[in-house]
Amino acid sequence: MNKLTLTSPLQDDLLEGSIDERITAIVDDHIGRLPNLERLTSEEVRGIIARYSAVLEGNFIYWMTATYLAVKSEEAREIIIENLTEEVRDSHPAMLRIFATAADAYPTEADSLAIGPDLTNVRLFLGKLQGVQSLMTMAFFESYIQRFMSYLADLAAARGSAERVYTDVHGVCDVEHSQELFRAVSLEMSVNPMKPGSNLYEGVELLSALLDSINHGAARAVANWRA
Ligand SMILES: [Fe+2]
Repeated sequence: MNKLTLTSPLQDDLLEGSIDERITAIVDDHIGRLPNLERLTSEEVRGIIARYSAVLEGNFIYWMTATYLAVKSEEAREIIIENLTEEVRDSHPAMLRIFATAADAYPTEADSLAIGPDLTNVRLFLGKLQGVQSLMTMAFFESYIQRFMSYLADLAAARGSAERVYTDVHGVCDVEHSQELFRAVSLEMSVNPMKPGSNLYEGVELLSALLDSINHGAARAVANWRA
Protein backbone atom coordinates (compact mmCIF):
# COMPACT_ATOMS: atom_id res chain seq x y z
CA MET A 1 0.00 0.00 0.00
CA ASN A 2 2.90 2.40 0.67
CA LYS A 3 4.00 2.23 -2.97
CA LEU A 4 0.80 3.78 -4.35
CA THR A 5 0.97 6.95 -6.40
CA LEU A 6 -1.30 9.43 -4.65
CA THR A 7 -3.28 11.72 -6.91
CA SER A 8 -6.09 13.01 -4.70
CA PRO A 9 -6.93 13.86 -1.08
CA LEU A 10 -9.40 10.95 -1.18
CA GLN A 11 -6.54 8.51 -1.64
CA ASP A 12 -4.67 10.15 1.25
CA ASP A 13 -7.80 9.64 3.34
CA LEU A 14 -7.87 5.96 2.48
CA LEU A 15 -4.26 5.44 3.45
CA GLU A 16 -4.89 7.25 6.71
CA GLY A 17 -7.60 4.72 7.44
CA SER A 18 -10.46 7.20 7.61
CA ILE A 19 -12.50 5.35 4.98
CA ASP A 20 -12.16 2.10 6.95
CA GLU A 21 -13.32 3.99 10.03
CA ARG A 22 -16.32 5.44 8.21
CA ILE A 23 -17.36 2.02 6.91
CA THR A 24 -16.95 0.58 10.40
CA ALA A 25 -19.20 3.34 11.76
CA ILE A 26 -21.88 2.55 9.14
CA VAL A 27 -21.70 -1.17 10.00
CA ASP A 28 -21.86 -0.32 13.74
CA ASP A 29 -25.00 1.73 13.07
CA HIS A 30 -26.68 -1.17 11.24
CA ILE A 31 -25.77 -3.66 13.96
CA GLY A 32 -26.84 -1.24 16.71
CA ARG A 33 -30.28 -0.78 15.11
CA LEU A 34 -31.05 -4.49 14.66
CA PRO A 35 -34.47 -5.26 16.14
CA ASN A 36 -34.42 -6.60 19.69
CA LEU A 37 -35.01 -10.33 19.33
CA GLU A 38 -37.10 -10.51 22.48
CA ARG A 39 -39.62 -8.08 21.01
CA LEU A 40 -40.02 -9.86 17.67
CA THR A 41 -42.82 -12.25 16.84
CA SER A 42 -41.88 -15.57 15.24
CA GLU A 43 -43.28 -14.24 11.93
CA GLU A 44 -41.07 -11.13 12.17
CA VAL A 45 -38.04 -13.34 12.84
CA ARG A 46 -38.97 -15.45 9.81
CA GLY A 47 -39.25 -12.31 7.68
CA ILE A 48 -35.70 -11.12 8.43
CA ILE A 49 -34.17 -14.51 7.58
CA ALA A 50 -36.33 -14.76 4.45
CA ARG A 51 -35.50 -11.27 3.15
CA TYR A 52 -31.79 -11.81 3.85
CA SER A 53 -31.97 -15.06 1.85
CA ALA A 54 -33.92 -13.40 -0.95
CA VAL A 55 -31.08 -10.89 -1.36
CA LEU A 56 -28.01 -13.05 -0.72
CA GLU A 57 -28.74 -16.42 -2.30
CA GLY A 58 -29.09 -15.20 -5.84
CA ASN A 59 -27.09 -11.99 -5.78
CA PHE A 60 -23.86 -12.22 -3.85
CA ILE A 61 -21.91 -14.08 -6.56
CA TYR A 62 -23.57 -11.94 -9.25
CA TRP A 63 -22.46 -8.74 -7.48
CA MET A 64 -18.93 -9.99 -6.87
CA THR A 65 -18.76 -10.93 -10.57
CA ALA A 66 -20.02 -7.44 -11.54
CA THR A 67 -17.24 -6.00 -9.39
CA TYR A 68 -14.71 -8.22 -11.16
CA LEU A 69 -15.90 -6.83 -14.50
CA ALA A 70 -15.54 -3.27 -13.19
CA VAL A 71 -12.00 -3.40 -11.80
CA LYS A 72 -8.78 -2.82 -13.71
CA SER A 73 -6.05 -3.63 -11.19
CA GLU A 74 -4.63 -7.15 -11.36
CA GLU A 75 -4.33 -7.33 -7.56
CA ALA A 76 -8.01 -6.47 -7.11
CA ARG A 77 -8.95 -9.11 -9.69
CA GLU A 78 -6.91 -11.75 -7.86
CA ILE A 79 -8.60 -10.92 -4.56
CA ILE A 80 -12.05 -11.15 -6.16
CA ILE A 81 -11.21 -14.44 -7.93
CA GLU A 82 -10.17 -15.96 -4.59
CA ASN A 83 -13.43 -14.82 -3.07
CA LEU A 84 -15.55 -16.12 -5.98
CA THR A 85 -13.72 -19.44 -6.04
CA GLU A 86 -14.61 -20.05 -2.40
CA GLU A 87 -18.24 -19.04 -2.99
CA VAL A 88 -18.63 -21.40 -5.95
CA ARG A 89 -16.46 -24.32 -4.77
CA ASP A 90 -18.19 -24.55 -1.39
CA SER A 91 -21.58 -23.46 -2.83
CA HIS A 92 -22.46 -20.75 -0.35
CA PRO A 93 -25.87 -20.25 -2.02
CA ALA A 94 -26.69 -23.91 -1.25
CA MET A 95 -25.57 -23.38 2.36
CA LEU A 96 -27.85 -20.37 2.69
CA ARG A 97 -30.84 -22.20 1.20
CA ILE A 98 -30.35 -25.04 3.70
CA PHE A 99 -30.06 -22.50 6.53
CA ALA A 100 -33.26 -20.63 5.57
CA THR A 101 -35.24 -23.80 4.93
CA ALA A 102 -34.21 -25.32 8.29
CA ALA A 103 -35.63 -22.23 10.00
CA ASP A 104 -38.81 -22.57 7.94
CA ALA A 105 -37.98 -19.15 6.51
CA TYR A 106 -37.49 -19.73 2.80
CA PRO A 107 -38.56 -16.50 1.03
CA THR A 108 -42.11 -16.14 -0.17
CA GLU A 109 -43.28 -13.95 -3.04
CA ALA A 110 -44.09 -11.20 -0.51
CA ASP A 111 -40.56 -11.38 0.95
CA SER A 112 -39.02 -11.04 -2.53
CA LEU A 113 -41.27 -8.11 -3.40
CA ALA A 114 -40.49 -6.36 -0.09
CA ILE A 115 -36.81 -6.00 -0.97
CA GLY A 116 -37.45 -5.47 -4.71
CA PRO A 117 -36.95 -1.71 -5.24
CA ASP A 118 -33.81 -1.45 -3.08
CA LEU A 119 -32.41 -4.60 -4.69
CA THR A 120 -32.92 -3.11 -8.15
CA ASN A 121 -31.08 0.06 -7.09
CA VAL A 122 -28.02 -1.94 -6.05
CA ARG A 123 -28.11 -4.00 -9.26
CA LEU A 124 -28.29 -0.88 -11.43
CA PHE A 125 -25.47 0.76 -9.47
CA LEU A 126 -23.18 -2.26 -9.99
CA GLY A 127 -24.15 -2.25 -13.67
CA LYS A 128 -22.35 1.07 -14.01
CA LEU A 129 -19.09 -0.90 -13.57
CA GLN A 130 -17.29 1.68 -11.43
CA GLY A 131 -14.27 -0.21 -10.08
CA VAL A 132 -13.50 1.74 -6.92
CA GLN A 133 -17.10 2.28 -5.85
CA SER A 134 -18.08 -1.34 -6.58
CA LEU A 135 -15.13 -2.65 -4.55
CA MET A 136 -15.99 -0.28 -1.70
CA THR A 137 -19.56 -1.58 -1.71
CA MET A 138 -18.49 -5.23 -1.56
CA ALA A 139 -15.91 -4.48 1.16
CA PHE A 140 -18.70 -2.88 3.18
CA PHE A 141 -20.98 -5.84 2.48
CA GLU A 142 -18.41 -8.39 3.65
CA SER A 143 -17.75 -6.36 6.83
CA TYR A 144 -21.46 -6.17 7.54
CA ILE A 145 -22.12 -9.87 6.85
CA GLN A 146 -19.39 -10.93 9.26
CA ARG A 147 -20.81 -8.75 12.04
CA PHE A 148 -24.42 -9.82 11.27
CA MET A 149 -23.79 -13.60 11.53
CA SER A 150 -24.26 -14.04 15.28
CA TYR A 151 -27.61 -12.21 15.08
CA LEU A 152 -28.66 -14.35 12.10
CA ALA A 153 -27.76 -17.47 14.10
CA ASP A 154 -29.88 -16.16 17.00
CA LEU A 155 -32.80 -15.62 14.61
CA ALA A 156 -32.52 -19.24 13.46
CA ALA A 157 -32.44 -20.41 17.09
CA ALA A 158 -35.61 -18.41 17.76
CA ARG A 159 -37.21 -20.34 14.90
CA GLY A 160 -36.16 -23.63 16.52
CA SER A 161 -33.38 -24.42 14.03
CA ALA A 162 -29.93 -25.74 14.99
CA GLU A 163 -28.55 -25.45 11.42
CA ARG A 164 -25.41 -23.28 11.68
CA VAL A 165 -23.11 -24.13 8.72
CA TYR A 166 -23.83 -20.87 6.85
CA THR A 167 -23.43 -18.59 9.88
CA ASP A 168 -20.34 -20.44 11.16
CA VAL A 169 -18.58 -20.24 7.78
CA HIS A 170 -19.36 -16.55 7.25
CA GLY A 171 -18.56 -15.43 10.76
CA VAL A 172 -14.97 -16.52 10.14
CA CYS A 173 -14.02 -16.31 6.47
CA ASP A 174 -15.55 -12.90 5.83
CA VAL A 175 -13.15 -11.23 8.27
CA GLU A 176 -10.36 -11.99 5.83
CA HIS A 177 -12.53 -11.22 2.79
CA SER A 178 -13.40 -7.72 3.97
CA GLN A 179 -9.79 -6.86 4.85
CA GLU A 180 -8.65 -8.06 1.43
CA LEU A 181 -11.37 -6.06 -0.31
CA PHE A 182 -10.41 -2.86 1.54
CA ARG A 183 -6.86 -3.44 0.36
CA ALA A 184 -8.22 -3.92 -3.17
CA VAL A 185 -10.00 -0.53 -3.01
CA SER A 186 -6.73 1.30 -2.49
CA LEU A 187 -4.99 -0.72 -5.22
CA GLU A 188 -7.81 0.04 -7.67
CA MET A 189 -7.69 3.76 -6.88
CA SER A 190 -4.09 3.88 -8.04
CA VAL A 191 -4.78 2.43 -11.51
CA ASN A 192 -8.45 3.28 -12.11
CA PRO A 193 -9.29 6.52 -10.25
CA MET A 194 -12.90 7.63 -9.83
CA LYS A 195 -14.33 10.28 -12.13
CA PRO A 196 -14.18 13.78 -10.58
CA GLY A 197 -17.30 14.57 -8.57
CA SER A 198 -18.38 10.96 -8.17
CA ASN A 199 -19.45 9.65 -4.79
CA LEU A 200 -17.21 6.96 -3.29
CA TYR A 201 -20.07 5.87 -1.04
CA GLU A 202 -22.78 5.69 -3.73
CA GLY A 203 -23.08 1.90 -3.55
CA VAL A 204 -22.60 1.81 0.22
CA GLU A 205 -25.60 4.12 0.60
CA LEU A 206 -27.78 2.05 -1.76
CA LEU A 207 -26.76 -1.20 -0.08
CA SER A 208 -27.48 0.36 3.32
CA ALA A 209 -31.04 1.07 2.19
CA LEU A 210 -31.36 -2.56 1.08
CA LEU A 211 -30.07 -3.81 4.45
CA ASP A 212 -32.71 -1.66 6.14
CA SER A 213 -35.35 -3.32 3.95
CA ILE A 214 -34.09 -6.71 5.13
CA ASN A 215 -33.88 -5.87 8.82
CA HIS A 216 -36.76 -3.44 9.18
CA GLY A 217 -38.94 -4.52 6.28
CA ALA A 218 -42.35 -4.22 7.90
CA ALA A 219 -41.48 -0.97 9.71
CA ARG A 220 -40.13 0.54 6.49
CA ALA A 221 -43.26 -0.41 4.61
CA VAL A 222 -45.40 1.35 7.22
CA ALA A 223 -43.11 4.42 7.18
CA ASN A 224 -43.35 4.61 3.38
CA TRP A 225 -47.09 4.22 3.51
CA ARG A 226 -47.42 7.06 6.05
CA ALA A 227 -45.04 9.39 4.18
FE1 LIG B 1 -20.34 -16.55 1.09
